Amino acid sequence: MDESRLRQIPVFAGLSKKQRKLVAQSADEIDVEPGTYVCREGESAYEFFAIVEGTAKVVRGNQFLNELGPGDFFGEMGLLAKAPRNASVIVKSRLTAVVMTGPAFRHIDREMPELAKNIRRAVEERTHWLEPVG
Ligand code: CMP
Repeated sequence: MDESRLRQIPVFAGLSKKQRKLVAQSADEIDVEPGTYVCREGESAYEFFAIVEGTAKVVRGNQFLNELGPGDFFGEMGLLAKAPRNASVIVKSRLTAVVMTGPAFRHIDREMPELAKNIRRAVEERTHWLEPVG
């Protein structure tokens, strides 16, 4: 995909052009219809997603956790922890997203500390939602 597309997405915006070109080489852009489960709770994690346009909701069991929109990313937790998806991500309004395979994502996460820092911050925030309340 084209490097310039990645500039719109905050998690990639801080990278150098050269780094974005590397990311772009191992990324694809997909369009997904409303109602589609992009991640399914309990299933294996193979891909990382960053939203260009559209919205998706994050649901665990019967619990609504969050709504994600342009600039947000998801699927990082299963890849980094080598664990099953901890929630389902369901498309709400037609989604355009950048998608990367697990190995490509892990490679970039290792090589690009700026990006890794942003991803870790989100994982930390999202992990709070995993802890039981009270
Ligand atoms: P993963 O576990 O691979 O698959 C489900 C994804 O949902 C998870 O990675 C995160 O990207 C995302 N996710 C989980 N919990 C939250 C949350 N509380 N807020 C936003 N996104 C979340």
